Amino acid sequence: MKIMVVGGGGREHAIIKKLKENKSVTEIYALPGNGGIAADAICVDIGAKEIDKTVDFAVANGIDYAVVAPDDPLVLGAVDALEAKGIPCFGPRANAAIIEGSKVFSKNLMKKYGIPTAAYEVFDDMNSALVYLETAPIPTVIKADGLALGKGVIIAMTRDEAKEAVRSMMEDKVFGASGDHIVIEEFLTGPEVSVLSFTDGKTVVPMVSSMDHKRAGDNDTGLNTGGMGTVAPNPYYTKDIAERCMKEIFLPTINAMNAEGRTFKGCLYFGLMLTENGPKVIEYNCRFGDPETQVVLPLLSSDLLTVMQATTNGTLDACEVKFADAHACCVIMASKGYPTAYEKGYEIAIPEDIAPSVYVAGAAIKDGNLVTSGGRVLGVTAVADTLGNAIEASYARVKKIQFGNAYYRNDIGARAIKAGGN
Ligand code: AMP
Ligand code: GLY
Repeated sequence: MKIMVVGGGGREHAIIKKLKENKSVTEIYALPGNGGIAADAICVDIGAKEIDKTVDFAVANGIDYAVVAPDDPLVLGAVDALEAKGIPCFGPRANAAIIEGSKVFSKNLMKKYGIPTAAYEVFDDMNSALVYLETAPIPTVIKADGLALGKGVIIAMTRDEAKEAVRSMMEDKVFGASGDHIVIEEFLTGPEVSVLSFTDGKTVVPMVSSMDHKRAGDNDTGLNTGGMGTVAPNPYYTKDIAERCMKEIFLPTINAMNAEGRTFKGCLYFGLMLTENGPKVIEYNCRFGDPETQVVLPLLSSDLLTVMQATTNGTLDACEVKFADAHACCVIMASKGYPTAYEKGYEIAIPEDIAPSVYVAGAAIKDGNLVTSGGRVLGVTAVADTLGNAIEASYARVKKIQFGNAYYRNDIGARAIKAGGN
């Protein structure tokens, strides 16, 4: 089978490594992939958002199955375009990917179908938003409607900060058209849990839960990033909470999307906050999380391609989806300065014995050598019998890898250990 994976980060590398375990897979193409992915797939110089070129490539090369991993092409309709040419895909169509593509859509969906989430108001003009903020409870959370590279959320601790956030989105357009409409919502507190799930629109199968570490610095300080590390499972996510989420959140979401004529197939990511009043949805993503995938897929003991095809074919209820009874930790090695300015172009040395557990996010090949090319450079994962051992093993691997300007957090998993993980 010839497989095509759209995307080029650490998440895509983890997906590709897992797909390769299936013996019927003969070739994997990555569009565009990256310098590290090139060791596991054939990289093709087509950007993830270049839908027409992607479809032409798939048709010309007889692709049997496509996996569209990032949010942008999903929201832009890559799956619709590929399916129109008869190519089966993993991922939602555009009319379902809107669950991530528009926060106004997802908030209204949750309100309409009684799915627990933060209370909110939607604003289409700046003045009404500013008037509302005169009396709104503080802290408050301001969200740009559309995709904003994970940066469209501002937690405002004061009224002035909140107003500033609204102005930056609606007047200065720092997120472009994504700020034409905004959501202002209630500030919630509690531990966060990421639950990725497979769904074919009828059955929803949650994967092992995970915990992201979004801030750049140790002890959750510094700027928000795309994610500096993950552990799985998440110790806050108990069996009782999982059952409650299935009943109150997961199934109602799948049913709501069906009722709206927007059946969701693929990976639906539930970003949850476990509040005093029960689990609530912070965000939906229409795709695998990054770097959650780098801890979740190494724990998947079933065949990934088989599960993905079951979501496409609507046969997920008959498909075995098993996870190892183990723990995983992924530490992101970044370029110092990320998420703002950083230098790149430094040579990366990854010892061969640990290469299978290294997922390359931002690296290119230059003069035959792998060099840093992005903010997040590598995800270094280890799986072990306990969380403590997984953390220790992933840091031991990190210490074996060298590149100029390398930076990583030293406390990935520490919060999970404190929460009672072992
Ligand atoms: P998002 O980009 O939607 O994942 O939001 C980024 C982060 O902002 C989340 O992971 C939360 O930590 C935080 N956040 C978003 N919404 C809320 C909220 N209503 N209350 C408190 N924190 C929030
Ligand atoms: N790690 C969070 C995300 O993928 O959106």
